[in-house]
Amino acid sequence: MLTQDRNRILFDGFVLEPLSEQQYPLRFDCGDSDLNDFFRNDVLNHERQLFTKTYCLYEYNAELEKKSPLVGLISYSNDSVRIKDFKDHEEEIPEEKRYPNIPAVKIARLAIQQDFQHLGIGSLLLNLTKLFFVTNNRTGCRLLTLDAYNDDKVVSFYMRSGFNFIHEKDKNKRNRIMFYDLTRTPV
Ligand SMILES: CC(C)(COP(=O)(O)OP(=O)(O)OC[C@H]1O[C@@H](n2cnc3c(N)ncnc32)[C@H](O)[C@@H]1OP(=O)(O)O)[C@@H](O)C(=O)NCCC(=O)NCCS
Repeated sequence: MLTQDRNRILFDGFVLEPLSEQQYPLRFDCGDSDLNDFFRNDVLNHERQLFTKTYCLYEYNAELEKKSPLVGLISYSNDSVRIKDFKDHEEEIPEEKRYPNIPAVKIARLAIQQDFQHLGIGSLLLNLTKLFFVTNNRTGCRLLTLDAYNDDKVVSFYMRSGFNFIHEKDKNKRNRIMFYDLTRTPV
């Protein structure tokens, strides 16, 4: 069950809280230098410019109100997908509801601390994100989107969570745009 308590989101023994300036210098290493550099050096500027909103994931013991060191980081941005780029999946959107753009939220960055990888926490954070955007939804948001590294392991990680390619035009590019239809997540 997902509980929203002020700005905190509690889920399945974990808590997600907005990143704050007090956490710097940030101790975080996911093993990927581009992502490390973004979270250590660029993210606060992105926040100030209102380009992203970043949340920190911790393991959380609700009885003791005790949280673990930082486990993961996720940044969201508003997004939209042009209906003409969504042709391969347009049967999912009823004809009378077809606007030129489909409202979406982009998972702009996602990383799990190296020591905590391969434990299912990245998948849990994707599930939490789905619930986050369908629970008490303040604006219409139909899709989650992301640019995945075009690497079999990364792509299959997202596919196991129900993400799919938007189109085939980027199949030979460094990144592939993927989406998840939030109507698949019951409120
Ligand atoms: C990708 C990432 C977020 C997955 O988080 P996680 O908590 O390890 O994910 P889960 O435990 O739920 O799933 C792990 C599976 O994801 C796949 N995977 C995805 N990306 C991977 C990566 N960069 N390295 C290794 N495995 C990866 C593997 O199939 C792995 O399965 P395994 O544990 O049996 O080897 C995390 O590995 C990470 O932060 N990697 C570095 C940054 C990165 O590559 N981010 C993705 C940018 S698109």
